[in-house]
Amino acid sequence: MILILLGPPGAGKGTQAKLLATELRIPHISTGDMFRDHKARGTEIGRQIQAIMDSGGLVTDEITNAMVKDRLSRPDVAPGFILDGYPRTTAQAEVLEGLLRALGRSLDRVLSYEVPEAAVVDRIGGRRSCPKCGAVYHVTASPPKAAGLCDRDGAALVLREDDRPENVKKRMQEYAAKTAPLKRFYQDRGQVAEVDATRSPEAILAATLRLLGR
Ligand code: AP5
Repeated sequence: MILILLGPPGAGKGTQAKLLATELRIPHISTGDMFRDHKARGTEIGRQIQAIMDSGGLVTDEITNAMVKDRLSRPDVAPGFILDGYPRTTAQAEVLEGLLRALGRSLDRVLSYEVPEAAVVDRIGGRRSCPKCGAVYHVTASPPKAAGLCDRDGAALVLREDDRPENVKKRMQEYAAKTAPLKRFYQDRGQVAEVDATRSPEAILAATLRLLGR
C-alpha cells in the first residue's frame, strides 16, 4: 500500500505515520526526519538546508526530489510505504507521479488530516523532541515519564528550532501557499480521504484503518 499523509505543520502526520507503519508493516518515509538527520550528521545537504529549514522555509524541490528518488530505490519499499511531508509542492507531486510510473507503482490513498489552526498551534507549542533518537512528545497530550527527558535514552528533550513561534508563522504561510493546494491536486484524481484529526492518536488510527478497509 502506498499512502501520502497531507496536513498542516503539527497536524499529527508523523505521529500517525509511525502508528500506521507498525500496523501495515511498511516503512515511514518522512522528508522532515531525513533532513533533520542530514543536519545532525553535518552532511553537505545538511549544511545547504540548515538555515532555510530552521527559519520555516521549504527546501528546494531539486534537493528534496533527489533525496526521495534515492529513498524509493531501496528494496524495503517493495510492500509499500507511507510518505509524510512529501510531496509539499505541486512540482514535487508531479515528480512523484513520474517516479511511481517509472517504478510501475501507483498511489493508493492520500490521507488529509483535518485539524483547526488553534489545535495545530497548541500541538506545535507543546511538542518536545529527542535530539538523539527523534522521539516526539507533547508536554500535556503525551508527556515523557520523567519531565524533559526521553523515555528511550534519557536525553534532554528540545524544542525544534522551527517550532519557535517566529518560525511557525513562516511554516504556516508556506503551507497555505504551496502545500494546501495539493489537496485539490489529489481530489482531482479522486485519491483524497479526509480524516478528522482532532481526536486522540488512537481514535484517529482506528478511523484511518477502517477507511483503508483494514
Ligand atoms: P516536517 O518535519 O515534515 O514538518 P511539518 O510538516 O511541519 O510537520 P510537523 O513535524 O511539524 O508535524 P506533524 O504533522 O508530523 O505532527 P506530529 O505528529 O509531530 O518538515 C520540517 C521542515 O523540513 C519543513 O519546514 C521544511 O523546511 C523541510 N521539509 C520537509 N519536507 C519537505 C519537502 N517535501 N519539501 C521541502 N522542504 C521540506 O505532532 C505534533 C505534536 O502534536 C506532537 O507533540 C505530538 O505528540 C502531538 N500530537 C500528535 N497527534 C496528536 C493528537 N491526536 N492529539 C494531541 N496531540 C497530538
